[in-house]
Amino acid sequence: MIRSWPTLFLRAVSRGGLGHALARIPVYLERQWSLRQFDRRYHTRTVDVRPIDPKEVVGEGARHSSTHMPTPQEHFDRMMASLPMSPQDLVFIDIGSGLGRVVLYASTLRFKRVIGIEFSRRLHTEALRNVEIFRRAHPEMLPVELTCADAVSHELPREDTLLFLHQPFDFEMFQRFMLHVARSLEAAPRPLLLVYCEPRHQKAIDESGLFELLVAVGEPGDASGAWRIWRTLPDMGRRPDR
Ligand SMILES: C[S@@+](CC[C@H](N)C(=O)[O-])C[C@H]1O[C@@H](n2cnc3c(N)ncnc32)[C@H](O)[C@@H]1O
Repeated sequence: MIRSWPTLFLRAVSRGGLGHALARIPVYLERQWSLRQFDRRYHTRTVDVRPIDPKEVVGEGARHSSTHMPTPQEHFDRMMASLPMSPQDLVFIDIGSGLGRVVLYASTLRFKRVIGIEFSRRLHTEALRNVEIFRRAHPEMLPVELTCADAVSHELPREDTLLFLHQPFDFEMFQRFMLHVARSLEAAPRPLLLVYCEPRHQKAIDESGLFELLVAVGEPGDASGAWRIWRTLPDMGRRPDR
């Protein structure tokens, strides 16, 4: 955990300069404190900021992956409060479910099903454990289906689905993921919602021609939370070239 701080700091310097990076330190510490409250309460271990090791990953996508970082509960709650469809009609799927923090939040809402796909074997194994620990405090929670797979090739459920993404990969991988979504829609046209937290690569979604933007909050890098919500166009628009 500690060894990744310099990496995060240098990344912030390269994005916005030294002043920006220094200004983010108190925000980062406050966010860490708030994230850790959840683990203290439930005895889970879902806060882990470590680069993804290529040796622990299914598929070839490690160099396209972001560092694992959980979504704060307050951000998730605000995103779910602005959904344009009822959770009861949707399968929830976290693309890059990490240590399971988001599927735990979702399991206490009334989705049809809750699924997490994570390509790091280490994170996946620890997420399975977190689900079992969380269940002790929330015996009524929905079952959570966790799969260790590369999300850009793993088959998506052929039901109305909410795709949740918290900054899992880079722009190139995002484009591949959108092609995967396009193929899935071609095989089974259906409404999809796409919820993207910290939407640095929203261009990949806009350019896919599959979705219309419904909700836009904050700018990427906004410490108080930024996200977007899209829904598939009624005719799914122009498909990306294959
Ligand atoms: C920023 S973390 C988000 C974790 C969790 N979704 C949350 O919001 O709390 C992104 C996760 O995506 C995973 N990931 C990156 N590329 C992936 C891929 N191609 N397939 C599956 N998981 C991937 C990473 O290993 C990491 O755990």
